[in-house]
Amino acid sequence: MRVLGIETSCDETGIALYCTERGLLGQALHTQIAMHERYGGVVPELASRDHIRRVVPLVEQVLEQAGVAVAEIDAVAYTEGPGLAGALLVGAGVGAAMAFALGVPAIGVHHLEGHLLSPLLSADAPAFPFVALLVSGGHTQLMDVAGIGRYRLLGDTLDDAAGEAFDKSAQSLGLGYPGGPAIARLAALGRPGRYRLPRPMLHSGDLEFSFSGLKTAVAHAVRDGLSDEQARADLAAEVEAAIVEVLVAKSLRALRDTGRTRLVVAGGVSANLRLRERLAAEQARAGIRVHFPELALCSDNGAMIAFAGALRLQAGTLAAPGVPQAAAGGTPGTSSDTASNSGKSIDGFRVRPRWSLDELPAPGQCPQED
Ligand code: KG4
Ligand code: ZN
Repeated sequence: MRVLGIETSCDETGIALYCTERGLLGQALHTQIAMHERYGGVVPELASRDHIRRVVPLVEQVLEQAGVAVAEIDAVAYTEGPGLAGALLVGAGVGAAMAFALGVPAIGVHHLEGHLLSPLLSADAPAFPFVALLVSGGHTQLMDVAGIGRYRLLGDTLDDAAGEAFDKSAQSLGLGYPGGPAIARLAALGRPGRYRLPRPMLHSGDLEFSFSGLKTAVAHAVRDGLSDEQARADLAAEVEAAIVEVLVAKSLRALRDTGRTRLVVAGGVSANLRLRERLAAEQARAGIRVHFPELALCSDNGAMIAFAGALRLQAGTLAAPGVPQAAAGGTPGTSSDTASNSGKSIDGFRVRPRWSLDELPAPGQCPQED
């Protein structure tokens, strides 16, 4: 079965074709970083317009790369949420229309489920159950994962996400967007400890996070004056060390609390090398295994959406109530049988800019209408 994946939730247009028998057949990505950089962050309207320009040419590129004709696509998966409404609408519109035209199922995928399952695409795929640390630009969550769709939220951020803390600290330091890679590059030239930043909620005794105080402390340090280039590098190193220390400590605590022995780290921040090294170092000491996505699959991409869509389709459940049934001409929210989608009619599609991962149905469960 060949599943086309379309990701347009934020500032990357990601397209991929995943085959359940042969793995990834092709993928392409266009990042809008250069376009948003001068604004210091993503401008939603510009993002949507750029996705419109990119999606179809990238689909054509992926099909050509894979040597697969459009008529050979068995299902179309697209990111239904969470993300920027206008950006999501582009991928959802194209995905639902393609599925309808081809008479195949349309699968609305939860973006964070895509991230969470992306390490399963690597050679060293984790087995269920595991604890997942989801660290992206908008989310910092610890999840207990018993299987596909069986997610229990263990801890969340009370304010800024870890990625956001990187991005905002980078802004204070006058570094580019996105901030995570920029901080990491500068941090490699510095040493943590010269500046002492808070480790928010490190000893709170629970699994919650808070990063807004860190961001403010960085802004104050910059305002008080950094004497030279080395000082900037040392502050960047301290920012990275503070965020990583909190992420590592809370992940280990989540493993202890749940009794799980496997940790999966996913989302854009999972590309951070210091985080990878710190967690790898804990493996032997804590008797755990840590799994990451391949570096190329840490940031937003179409492969994780195609893959999550394929798993959902194989499991015979919907990632999202409404969309596939609507494409099948059924009543939204009453069926969980994506595979029976005939693609004969299309009543519409929906996107969910705000959508919590633990609202997702497990395979075999009837999705709830909201
Ligand atoms: O998952 P993602 O690509 O997009 C969202 O769904 O939000 O995550 C983007 C976030 C940004 O905040 C970016 O600064 C951060 O991931 N990031 C990093 C690194 N690469 C990306 N943070 C720290 N170190 C990195 N190497
Ligand atoms: Zn993401």
